[in-house]
Amino acid sequence: MILVTGAAGKTGRAVIRALSRRGQAVRAFVHRPEQAALVTAAGAQQVVIGDMHNQAAVNEAAREIWAAYHICPNMSPSELEIGKAIVKAAQEAGIEHCVYHSVLHPQVEAMPHHWQKMRVEEQLFESGLRYTSLQPAVYMQNILGHWGRIVAEGVYAVPYAVGTRLSFVDLEDVAEAAAIVLTEPGHAGATYELVGAEVLDQAEVAAILEQGLGRPVQAQAVDRDLWEQEMRAAGLGDYQIQTLLQMFCYYERYGFWGNSRVLEWLLGRPATTLAAFVARSARDNERAQ
Ligand SMILES: NC(=O)c1ccc[n+]([C@@H]2O[C@H](COP(=O)([O-])OP(=O)(O)OC[C@H]3O[C@@H](n4cnc5c(N)ncnc54)[C@H](OP(=O)(O)O)[C@@H]3O)[C@@H](O)[C@H]2O)c1
Repeated sequence: MILVTGAAGKTGRAVIRALSRRGQAVRAFVHRPEQAALVTAAGAQQVVIGDMHNQAAVNEAAREIWAAYHICPNMSPSELEIGKAIVKAAQEAGIEHCVYHSVLHPQVEAMPHHWQKMRVEEQLFESGLRYTSLQPAVYMQNILGHWGRIVAEGVYAVPYAVGTRLSFVDLEDVAEAAAIVLTEPGHAGATYELVGAEVLDQAEVAAILEQGLGRPVQAQAVDRDLWEQEMRAAGLGDYQIQTLLQMFCYYERYGFWGNSRVLEWLLGRPATTLAAFVARSARDNERAQ
């Protein structure tokens, strides 16, 4: 049995689907009872409900499993504390392999959520556990949050300059890599950057959307003060807003990109391109209507 934490989120469900395709039994750790149906539909065989801040709940989730895939809730101010609780539970349960869902370039102190992930990796180094750390780039799936406006208005709005260059990765490729690392031998002690093959500025992203959707799409930089007002009105917390703003400024100043060779070696095939992702998303969208 493999434990997946943060299981009901988009990453967790993708990892559960990828493990299920490989015939693996998954125990999903979810936050709220109503999330049980989501992870069961993704293929989880067991569901535990609890709070990752609660050591007893984490210990209970880790009982009688041989591997754990830890996904911290997105933008959590307590990522390090949660990471420590997972490491402690894994040590006490004698888990054979602990895989951590980190991020590309956790060494960047200017992005607090990256820096916290680096500190969690440090906990793993010192834990005595057999661990693997996966470091994905920006998910292509983040674009789906803007899909309605892209399709309806032809506007791809980003809270940084249009010239900002980013590496994207398809979450489905990340999930497949996670399943490979969990089910094939030889990955203990490894840290893998998971990055798609293209480094694109946001005008290039808009051009790929335009091509895939068959309608004009323009990239547009959103004013960050306006973005902040909208996020506050939508109920996003202070830590999350400040952390995201720091991330946007970092992206704009330095770009955020990496190299796809490790992901392609793990998958044994080329990484998914943004054009292929857009074509798949357009098909999924049509089917859903
Ligand atoms: N998005 C990207 O481009 C990207 C790239 C690289 C790495 N990552 C990393 O990927 C990770 C997962 O991101 P995601 O977008 O898949 O996350 P997500 O959708 O926010 O999912 C997190 C899940 O954890 C649950 N959760 C929240 N607080 C919890 C708690 N205290 N105890 C137990 N469960 C709790 C959430 O449930 P509720 O709905 O109840 O809160 C949700 O189901 C993050 O660590 C992020 O930094 C993301």
